Amino acid sequence: MSILKILVVDDEPGIRSGVTRILRNFRVDYPFMEEPIEFEVMEAPTGEAGITIIETNIPDILLLDNKLPGIQGIEVLEYIKKKKKDIIVVMITSYASLELAVKATSDGAYDFIPKPFTPQELKSSIENITKRVFLKKMTNKLQDAGKKIRFTFLSILSHELKAPLNAIEGYLKMTKERQLGPNLEDYDGIIDRSLDRIRGMRNLILDLLDLTRVESGKAKRNMADVDLLKVARTAIDTMRPYAIQREVDIELQGVAPLILQADEEEIEIIFNNLVSNAIKYNKEGGTVACNIHKNEGCMIIQVEDSGIGMSQNDIEKIFDDFVRIKNEDTKNISGSGLGLSIVKKLVDNYSGKIEVTSAPGQGSIFKVIIPINQPCL
Ligand SMILES: Nc1ncnc2c1ncn2[C@@H]1O[C@H](COP(=O)(O)OP(=O)(O)OP(=O)(O)O)[C@@H](O)[C@H]1O
Ligand SMILES: [Mg+2]
Repeated sequence: MSILKILVVDDEPGIRSGVTRILRNFRVDYPFMEEPIEFEVMEAPTGEAGITIIETNIPDILLLDNKLPGIQGIEVLEYIKKKKKDIIVVMITSYASLELAVKATSDGAYDFIPKPFTPQELKSSIENITKRVFLKKMTNKLQDAGKKIRFTFLSILSHELKAPLNAIEGYLKMTKERQLGPNLEDYDGIIDRSLDRIRGMRNLILDLLDLTRVESGKAKRNMADVDLLKVARTAIDTMRPYAIQREVDIELQGVAPLILQADEEEIEIIFNNLVSNAIKYNKEGGTVACNIHKNEGCMIIQVEDSGIGMSQNDIEKIFDDFVRIKNEDTKNISGSGLGLSIVKKLVDNYSGKIEVTSAPGQGSIFKVIIPINQPCL
């Protein structure tokens, strides 16, 4: 459980105890957080008392009334700015002093909540801020550890997770309100759609786990002689039910032994993604040919499909995070757009490269080329 500290500075005891009560059992949880966040509320009746708390037990978030008996809220804000305290300040203010709140916002306050506020208003404001604090903390933490993480990545990610959650929430509300009438069968459609969205989210999370693993460095890598044919066979067997469902035929070609010094799990991820794409972006009754061979000191893993193909312009984008090609052929196919970016990162670790040959309607060939004797990066 992680806890964010909130300090509420207000001379009205009712507001202070109200905030404490509303946030006592409030939790903020996002699918990408390891654990939910809870809140510990501290109270101060004056600006002076607030500053004492800030000095001894620094809060993450400050809910600050402006009209106070001694020094004013705006002065507390100035103090925080001068001392460069890392606190997100939210002004609580009556409608009469909105102008002041606006000024406070331009002076560095993050937001303001007009008084009187409902529990829901307070909660949604705190939820927004929590997300900001969390992402900031996480970015700092990762930067501290010498890792690069892009803020945009997390924003896209939260969007990708939020969209299915919103959809499922909508469907549940429709069901709760019996919007389609009293018959249970009439809800089958929206239940199926909900299950689809859940499946999509799970796949995204699995992809994220792969990505985290790839990006978290090489500490856990387990290098050994890997039998590529065996790994390919496992990947194909795992994907077989999906291929049968899509009426796609898969064949594997390669003459043993095809051994590569590698981390078996990483190679599995590469195969899984290439083979699943070759099935997913195929046509009914199509084929997938997986071929592994050696050529000039390199191991070549080639996955060829008879599917929808793509343009040269698309090929240049598909290895970026979250990129999915949107067109008539792909509109009913779901995915997170992370698979190939993971594959690319993995192949880079082996000083390898990926070549794609494809054209719309003509199928695609993905060729992974990995040097056999070159030390891995
Ligand atoms: N074999 C293929 N044939 C045609 N298009 C493909 C093929 N493989 C990938 N693509 C295109 O590249 C995009 C990115 O693929 P990628 O594997 O990264 O993501 P995804 O399949 O959408 O999702 P997931 O993360 O679940 O794999 C796909 O959305 C698809 O448009
Ligand atoms: Mg994919």
